[in-house]
Amino acid sequence: QMGFTSRGLSIGVIYSLILLISSEECLWIQKMTKRDVKMNVVGEGLHRNLLVSAHLESNERFVECRLLYSLRVPQGMYFDSDNVNSSLPNHAMYSRHYFDVEAPAKDSKEVQISIVSTRMKRKQFIITDHFSVPIHVRYHSPDAAGAATVHPPRLLIDCPADYRIHSLQHCPTASAKSVRSLAEKWVIIDPLTVSAPVTVSIPTGNRSMLPTVVTVTFAVVACSLLFLAKSLFIS
Ligand SMILES: *[C@@H]1O[C@H](CO)[C@@H](O)[C@H](O)[C@H]1NC(C)=O
Repeated sequence: QMGFTSRGLSIGVIYSLILLISSEECLWIQKMTKRDVKMNVVGEGLHRNLLVSAHLESNERFVECRLLYSLRVPQGMYFDSDNVNSSLPNHAMYSRHYFDVEAPAKDSKEVQISIVSTRMKRKQFIITDHFSVPIHVRYHSPDAAGAATVHPPRLLIDCPADYRIHSLQHCPTASAKSVRSLAEKWVIIDPLTVSAPVTVSIPTGNRSMLPTVVTVTFAVVACSLLFLAKSLFIS
């Protein structure tokens, strides 16, 4: 009986020790009292804007940091790889994927991209950051229900100077090949508040309208030709 109790007790002690250690693992993130990620998609039709903002607050100064947003671009959407950087004055997009802007949704796949802030934020208690970037909706087949859902990006941070001071090696990290040249590891920030995913519905061409569209187009062309011929004959 006694044996069981003391064994139970020591297991209990070990468990609470493990809990204590793991709760102290990444104090740096726990000290951030605000960790917000907001996202929205604005505009109408096939060409829209993706708005993203982040807000971090801590009791300790951030010495030198830059943010990375890891975004999953859904199958039904794309970025213009050639021009995306020019619409991002304070950020740069990194991806090993070149978006085929012509491909319809059914021939595309979900792609993960990274958007990184190009300026280091220095000696701040608060880090706020935001960007707006054109995002486009792919053509959907006329019969399919046209919708694409974007999830808010995952937020990661690189603070080379804070690394040594705050033993960030205990923090959960991730990386992607396309951003490895910037930093080997990026600390994952678990947001306290985050926007809901946004579903964009797309007006798809309706096939039942086709005969009407064709008839009206032909009628307009025929009338214009008649009018042209008449005015030519008269003059
Ligand atoms: C954006 O700019 C960065 C930095 O100059 C570059 O490494 C990256 O490849 C560019 N992204 C695209 C999609 O062209």
